[in-house]
Amino acid sequence: MKKQRTLGHGLILGAFCLGFGIVLAISDSITVDDIAARALEDRLNSLSQVIPDNIHDNNPVSDAFTMKNERNKEITVYRATKEGKVTGVAYEIFGTGYAGEMKLMLGVDAQGNVLGVRVLAHKETAGLGDKMEVKKSDWILRFTGLSLGNPQPDKWKVKKDGGQFDQFAGATITPRGVVDAVRKGLQLFAANKMQMMDINASKTPMKEAH
Ligand SMILES: Cc1cc2nc3c(=O)[nH]c(=O)nc-3n(C[C@H](O)[C@H](O)[C@H](O)COP(=O)(O)O)c2cc1C
Repeated sequence: MKKQRTLGHGLILGAFCLGFGIVLAISDSITVDDIAARALEDRLNSLSQVIPDNIHDNNPVSDAFTMKNERNKEITVYRATKEGKVTGVAYEIFGTGYAGEMKLMLGVDAQGNVLGVRVLAHKETAGLGDKMEVKKSDWILRFTGLSLGNPQPDKWKVKKDGGQFDQFAGATITPRGVVDAVRKGLQLFAANKMQMMDINASKTPMKEAH
């Protein structure tokens, strides 16, 4: 009798654990799917902001290829084409901030001018280092139209370091990291322009930018 009751309790406990496990697995997979969907949505949103509509008649999201950047990291390059010609590209760039790596999207036209820069992910301090987000300030819009020669190379720094870019009040490390990331991103384009602008560009090994 006692043995049967113990067995009964064991079965109830087992069923309970199984049920709980299934609920956890389902909610975990929903959360993972949600996060992936949000990340994709953010990326598409940023892409449309750094590749203006008037320079392409293709869909840059599906016209993409991968390549290695100057740190040998694989990045996705989205291509804008109009009437069969490549008019610009957008790709991920990385900078070091106060709290770690910052991931951004850089759009560049065929002449190497910045079409736009947007932050994709960062861990900078809210209210202090997050002014590179376009919803917090217009600071990041000031890169638009610039190139490696404009401003001169020694001015691709924050003002505190003798350059032309404003730092944020009480926060120099974040903007310094962003300026550096954009400059390096433009160098990557300059060093690999032929391949990046090639309409047939595919997974060709890239030259290093210096
Ligand atoms: C809690 C805390 C959070 C901070 N977060 C940031 C940040 O996100 N970005 C940043 O540039 N500086 C941040 N700072 C300030 C930096 O430590 C540093 O003082 C500032 O960037 C000036 O840098 P500089 O001395 O190179 O000019 C933070 C400081 C503290 C105490």
